[in-house]
Amino acid sequence: MSLLKHLRSNAELTAALDRLRDDIRSDSTKLPILFWLRAYTILALERDSVSVRWSKLSGFVSRTAREFGINGLDHAPGRALLTAYELFQATPIDGGASVSDPDQLRALDLGRNFQVELRPLYQPELSRVHDWAIETWDEFRAGAENKTLAAILARWAPVGKSGLLPALIEAQELEGWLSRETLVAIAQGLQVPLSHVYGVADFYAHLYTKPVGKIFIRVCDDVPCYLAGSEDILHRVKNLLWVRNGETTADGRFTLEHVPCLGHCDHAPVAMIGTQVHENLTPEKISALLRTE
Ligand code: FES
Repeated sequence: MSLLKHLRSNAELTAALDRLRDDIRSDSTKLPILFWLRAYTILALERDSVSVRWSKLSGFVSRTAREFGINGLDHAPGRALLTAYELFQATPIDGGASVSDPDQLRALDLGRNFQVELRPLYQPELSRVHDWAIETWDEFRAGAENKTLAAILARWAPVGKSGLLPALIEAQELEGWLSRETLVAIAQGLQVPLSHVYGVADFYAHLYTKPVGKIFIRVCDDVPCYLAGSEDILHRVKNLLWVRNGETTADGRFTLEHVPCLGHCDHAPVAMIGTQVHENLTPEKISALLRTE
């Protein structure tokens, strides 16, 4: 409760944040929504502006989420901040009226044409929302440092099925992928049918049930990057490493993934090698970068 002490001045905002925290407590798969809120406040304070381009926010999330086992390429948790929790509004980058109606927001293609910002009533509370998001994130992550499968199971077993996704995410951090033995242990630990565990592990693109490389190469193939030559970049990577999309090199070093917008469209084509973003790529540049990895 003490985390909300700063926000008493705005009851509506307090209620929305309270609800978010309660929802995460009862369904930990909602944790990525808090991650997006945290990411927004970090960017907004860095830029000294309550408005953050959606493409910048989604790019920041996609670059930083993986180390926490969150699928940063899934924008649904970010959109929930606009629609389910009604904390944000969206404004066209080239001017025009802000959209705050949840139904209209649901139908909106935020893409590269919108920026998001706290609703006007909440904007004076930006730095306090930031403090709340950081403290609440730390609160939920406390204990996640204990990185053994037994510790992970002990942490999530009490909530059973709703702990399945976070347990899978944390277990994957141990080896980088989920072996059959790990999936069986999770099924037994959480008392969830193994078929259901496989179903969830196969459904989420960021969960891997086969070994993956130590380094991910993620090449953006969204429209601006495609128009700027991402096909040539992909062609070069595939020829150099002898892998296709989703495959891992024979030495287990690299895994290649085609991904949607990474939020750096102004410098297309773009790719990530590990956590590092590389802009304005050419086939020659990507070759040189891979030689140094
Ligand atoms: S389209 Fe945005 S980074 Fe490629």
